[in-house]
Amino acid sequence: MMHQKLVVANWKMNGTSADIDVLLMAMQKDSAILNQVEVSLCVPAVFLSNMRAACAHLPISWGAQNVNDKVAGAFTGEISAQMLCDVGCRYVIVGHSERRLYYGEDSPWVAQKWLAARAAALTPILCVGESLEEREKGQTLAVVMAQLDAVLKITTAKDFAHTVVAYEPVWAIGTGLTPTTGEVVSVHTALRDHLVKQYDSATSQTVRLLYGGSVKGDNAAQLLTLANVDGGLIGGASLKYETFSPIYRALI
Ligand code: 13P
Repeated sequence: MMHQKLVVANWKMNGTSADIDVLLMAMQKDSAILNQVEVSLCVPAVFLSNMRAACAHLPISWGAQNVNDKVAGAFTGEISAQMLCDVGCRYVIVGHSERRLYYGEDSPWVAQKWLAARAAALTPILCVGESLEEREKGQTLAVVMAQLDAVLKITTAKDFAHTVVAYEPVWAIGTGLTPTTGEVVSVHTALRDHLVKQYDSATSQTVRLLYGGSVKGDNAAQLLTLANVDGGLIGGASLKYETFSPIYRALI
C-alpha cells in the first residue's frame, strides 16, 4: 500500500503562540502541497487548545508530545489522552528519547502511554532508536525491536494498524549527523519485517514508519523517500517556515 507521506513537526519545548501563528500564516500559501503530503504539528501542550482555530484554514492536523498513561485522577500537572482528543489532537508522540533519557520513561511505561493514547482514539507516534554506544556495539536492531516489542506484546494487530513508528537514532537528534541511507533502510526494513512476523503483511503496510534525526531541507528528499520510510519527524528545522517547508515540499 502506498501511503501519503507524513511529516510531523516536534517543536519540543520551543516557541511561542506568536511563532505558531507566523508559521501557520506562511503555510497558507502551501495549501495545494498540504493536500499531497500530510503535515502535523506537535506543539507544546499549552498551545494545543488554540490549534483548532489557528489551523482552521489549513489542511493540517496537530498533536501532543507526551501523554499520561492513566485515564483521569489525582496526577497533578499531567494531561490525559482524552484531554488531547478534546482539543482536537490527531497524534501524540510517545517514548521520545528525550523523555526516556530525562524523565525516566522506560519501555513498559511508554507502552502504557501508547495504550492510553490508542484507547482514546489518538494515533500514537512511537519513537524508537539506539544511542551511539549501542550502535557501535552492534546492538541497533536489538534495541529498537525491544522498544517496539514492549508495545506489540500488550496490543493487537487491529489496534496497532494505522499507527506510526518513528525511528530516531539518539545520536542523530539535533547533531547534524545522520545515518547513511543504507543504515536507515536496514532499520526500517527490519521494523517492517518484524511487524509482518508479529502480525501479517497487510497490517504492517498500514503502519507508517518515520525517520527522525537532523532532517533538513537538503537531505529530506534523500532520507524520507527511501524504501520503507513513510515520512519524517522533524525537530529543529520545523520551527520556522523557511526551514520546514523545504522538507515537506521535497516529498511531493
Ligand atoms: P532534530 O530534527 O532537531 O534533529 O530532532 C529530531 C527529533 O528529535 C524529532 O522528534
